[in-house]
Amino acid sequence: MGPTLVFKILAECPVTKARVAKMTLPHTVVDTPVFMPVGTQGTMKGILVDQLYDLDCNLILANTYHLGMRPGAELLQKCGGLHNLMGWSKALLTDSGGFQMVSLVELSEVCEDGVKFRSPYDGKEIMLTPEKSIEIQNAIGADIMMQLDDVVSSTVIGPRVEEAMHRTYRWLDRCLAANKKPDKQNLFPIVQGGLNPELRKQCVEELLKREVNGYAIGGLSGGESKEDFWKMVHLSTDYLPKNKPRYLMGVGVATDLVVCSALGCDMFDCVFPTRTARFGCALVDSGQISLKNAQYAKDFRPIDENCHCSTCKTYTRAYLHRVATIEAVSSSLLTVHNIAYQMRLMKRIRTAIIEGVFPEYIHEFLKKMYPNKE
Ligand code: GUN
Ligand code: ZN
Repeated sequence: MGPTLVFKILAECPVTKARVAKMTLPHTVVDTPVFMPVGTQGTMKGILVDQLYDLDCNLILANTYHLGMRPGAELLQKCGGLHNLMGWSKALLTDSGGFQMVSLVELSEVCEDGVKFRSPYDGKEIMLTPEKSIEIQNAIGADIMMQLDDVVSSTVIGPRVEEAMHRTYRWLDRCLAANKKPDKQNLFPIVQGGLNPELRKQCVEELLKREVNGYAIGGLSGGESKEDFWKMVHLSTDYLPKNKPRYLMGVGVATDLVVCSALGCDMFDCVFPTRTARFGCALVDSGQISLKNAQYAKDFRPIDENCHCSTCKTYTRAYLHRVATIEAVSSSLLTVHNIAYQMRLMKRIRTAIIEGVFPEYIHEFLKKMYPNKE
């Protein structure tokens, strides 16, 4: 085990707020800006651990909510954590569960003690408190744990947003007090405050009073306008300290990764690349292509000529079109490509920042993604 977290900035863009850093975590060293694929249940759907290593993916995300239900903290503790259970030796980040419950479980109810909900497995009433979330996350053993936060949809306005923001830093204190492995597991707070600049600022001010190694920006990418989204990210990174990593939660569409790297974010996660693969879609610089589409039946090119993934090395679009509708393996082939795409995009962002040409890269990226706009 190495240090809990060291964040060393290697290059900064002179025009935007983008930076490249080496983030040393207990299980590995991560180059940022980084995209983290999501393996909700402690397995990445459609891809093997060795395939992730081959794609230079060394930081993935798992969910406390799902793992706490199944297999549960006790079994995770018994086998020495999720790394052992899933055979993953690189870095891991766990989300706290609050967001998943609010977004996935209809019958959930938030009060000061925690989030109450009915188990979708056996119907029993369960209370997820900050202490319980950290207990499960300590059993999972991730390099970075997230605090339990009070999340409201970004389209909600009014007193509920303010209440959630204040509750979030109160819950942070309970999470920090509950962490039994502060020397092995980082605990990140989460900036909330909806689309209200004043609440976001107040939230950051509260978080800054606590001792932590990094910060997350939450409550966004949930149906608000792009303008509001970017404004909130921009002002959050303005207030957050420069020398610590900033994790923008739930964001993973290519354009957002490029723009929000420019706004000074260092870490991202999203189910989109892996989920869209299972629906037969492959990511490319112009967006995504649906391989079920008849136009690919006689297209003998790889998904992307510049992609070095095992799928693009071996298979044509025509083949993938053929299997997309009849074989389970196609979702696996596309998952490999889509994660490779995300990893390569982040590498292109890092290289452009290091070479001092990030603004030019953004321009070139947008031209390919939106060819008809000027
Ligand atoms: N995932 C996406 N957004 C959020 C958020 O605001 N909080 C948490 N805990 N997870 C998220
Ligand atoms: Zn590929």
